[in-house]
Formats: sequence, C-alpha cells, structure tokens
Amino acid sequence: MPRDFLTLDDVELQDRLVLLRVDLNSSVDPLTRRLMDDTRLRRHAETVRELAEKGARTVLLAHQSRPGNDDFVSLVRHARRMQQLVQRRVRFTEGIFGRSARQAIRRLKAGELLMLENIRFNAEEVLLKRYNGSDFRVQATAHLVQRLAPLADLFVNDAFAAAHRCQPSLVGFAEMLPTVAGRVMERELASLDRALSSGKSPRLALLGGSKAEDSVAMARHFLASGIDTVLTGGVVANVFLLAAGIDIGEPSRAFIAQRIPDWESVVGDASALLEAEGDRLVLPQDVALDDGGTRRGVPVSALPTPHPVHDIGLDTMVGYIARLRAAGTIIANGPMGLFEAPALATGTREVFRAVAESEAYSVVGGGETSMAFARLGLADGVNHISTGGGSCIAYLAGRPMPVLDALRRSRELFIVGAYGE
Ligand code: 3PG
Repeated sequence: MPRDFLTLDDVELQDRLVLLRVDLNSSVDPLTRRLMDDTRLRRHAETVRELAEKGARTVLLAHQSRPGNDDFVSLVRHARRMQQLVQRRVRFTEGIFGRSARQAIRRLKAGELLMLENIRFNAEEVLLKRYNGSDFRVQATAHLVQRLAPLADLFVNDAFAAAHRCQPSLVGFAEMLPTVAGRVMERELASLDRALSSGKSPRLALLGGSKAEDSVAMARHFLASGIDTVLTGGVVANVFLLAAGIDIGEPSRAFIAQRIPDWESVVGDASALLEAEGDRLVLPQDVALDDGGTRRGVPVSALPTPHPVHDIGLDTMVGYIARLRAAGTIIANGPMGLFEAPALATGTREVFRAVAESEAYSVVGGGETSMAFARLGLADGVNHISTGGGSCIAYLAGRPMPVLDALRRSRELFIVGAYGE
C-alpha cells in the first residue's frame, strides 16, 4: 500500500543529527528497578543500529511509565540494555534538554548514540497532550521541542506503541523538523494493514478479551477495512450475545455493566452492527461456564445461568479452528475466555494454537493477546506480534492516531512544500 509519509529509505543520514523517538516503556521491577521485559528494546534496536551504521548522530527520546506510578523510573537501565543489544556504546544523560544534555548532543560524532532521561520527567510532556486534528503547534511550544529541534536535522518517529498519544515528544517536532517513520513504525503499519485489508483471502479476525468497550468499534472497522469474517470470544462475545437479545445470565451481565463505561450504548452499537453485518460476525454457539472453578459446557440456548460465561464452548472452538485452518490472513486480538484459569483456558489455547499453526499470514495485536501467545509458547508461530497495546487497539478501531497525522503533516510541510512534489 503506498504510504503518505516518509521512511528512513527517503533520507540521507550520514553525519545528520537525528532525534529518534522510541517507545521503551516496559515492565520494570519497582524494587530493584530491573527491566522485566525487553521486547520493545529488541525491536527498536534494529532502527538504532541502522542509524548508527549509516553514520547518523542519534539521540534517543523515550518514556517509562507515568508520574505517580512506582515504575516511573530513570532510563539509565534501558540505555544499558540498548547498548548490549546494539553492541555499540549508548551514552546516557540525566538531563532532557538542559545545558548538559544539549552539550552532550553537540559532542556526538557520526555513528554515536545518546539516550536522554525519561522525557515524562518533564511536566510539559505530560500536560501538553490535547489532540486538535493535525495541528500540533501547542506541542511544538514545549521546551523540549524548542530547545532540541534547532540542534537537529531530522526527527525519526519509531514509537508505534505511543502513536495514539499526542505529547510534545511524539508530535511537536513534526512542526519544526522533517519527520520520517523508523523501521518499527513502518513494519507495524505494514503488518496491520496487510492483515486488515491487503492480505490473502479469506481474511479472518479473532476478537475477544475483556476490554470490550473498544471491540465493537474494532469489529466495525475490521469489516469496513476488508476483513471477511469476525469470530468473537471472551467478554466481546458476551456483548454481542446480549446485543442479539440473548440473556447471558446475571454474573456476565453484571461484569459488562461494571467494567464497560456507557455499556448500554456499546450494546446498542453491537446490535446495529449485527443487523448490518450479521452474517460476517460469528457468535459462539456454545459456551463454558465457570462453576466455582470447574468448567461446564452448555449451548447458548441453555442460557441464562447463575454462573459466569468464561470461555467459548467446544463446538464453537472446533468451528473456529476449522475456519482458521482455511484462512489466508488472520488477525488475533483478545483471548476467548479467562485463560489464566487452567480449566477455562481450553478455548483460547486451542484457537490460538490454530492461529500459530496455520499457513495464513498472522498478526497478533494488543498487550493481553501478545502475553497470552507468549505464555502459551505460541509466539514463534505468528508472523507479527505488535509492540502496541493501546495504540494497536486504537489503530484497529480506526481511531485518530496523532503520530501518523504528524508524519503526514511533516511530509507536506517539509518535503512536498520544499520540492513542489
Ligand atoms: C504503552 O505502553 O502503551 C505506551 O508506551 C503508551 O503509554 P501510556 O499509556 O502511558 O501513554
């Protein structure tokens, strides 16, 4: 699919001062401050290495957690881990845009790397986040942007996992510097787009999990983008069953009412979607109830019951597996049930195994789903696991993505504008 923004292939990097925004936000042990998961660092290492090899003078900008959280810590350990991954020295400065940080930036030579301190240590990064269409002038007023942009030649945005955020380090530089996408950003978008609209048919989406507030928007966007069929599970399936007029029982209904803000309108949207696209949305025929920790399968026609619905039933599972085996492209977002409980993990485990074993091009999105694939030892069987949690969900639901707007805007401002393309 042709892109309306630029990538590292479009720019000269030798000796250029590059500000590289990555998303290194990871799980950190609050006591020892050790990094518990380096998946995002591994992915970004590719972009960092390429910039260094091509002779750029690279400054890494990243955040860790949010103010007030106990893992809102320095990036010094992230810098050390990145150094091991890229096998080049990664300098670290405790500053962000003050005099010492700027001096360290000015001293960089071709091929050298410097990581700045957690940019959310600066209050403006957290406060100047209002999304106002593609107008990022407010974010461009941040000290971070005003102080660092004059030192730089280029901004590379690789932070797909934060692409739904509108903070100065993510969108403000696009007003001041030519901005291009890094390799992680490029691959995430290409993989998600392929799964949604250009991959081999039939294109299937598995949609489950407990964050059902986004799932109706996601199902709608899936079907509008080119997914042929959406197979539902988890709380998402319960929302659609409810929307289809099925009484799913008090505990499952109460869960939806408690956990989903404005749940009645979500169920209303689900029922409108069922009416418009009913044959492309597949709901479970049978479900597994959680009877005090014991699994009990029942057909949907046997609902309601006093026990919560916590997995898809075995007939539904077999049907989903058959469809997944025949698919050309699969996108999986959300488990089929309460997979943390062994008795209720069957649906998720077997359906995810079918994704991993299928010949189809497969993409896994969302933090919960990636974790499930990793925990079940199935991660190696899929083509792409997104680094995005919330950003992936936002993209799949067709929500605004400020970072993508900024990439497009910068292309217009600096490239099309400059060369009259
Ligand atoms: C993430 O981990 O989802 C991103 O780094 C965004 O973090 P945030 O939700 O704190 O903005």
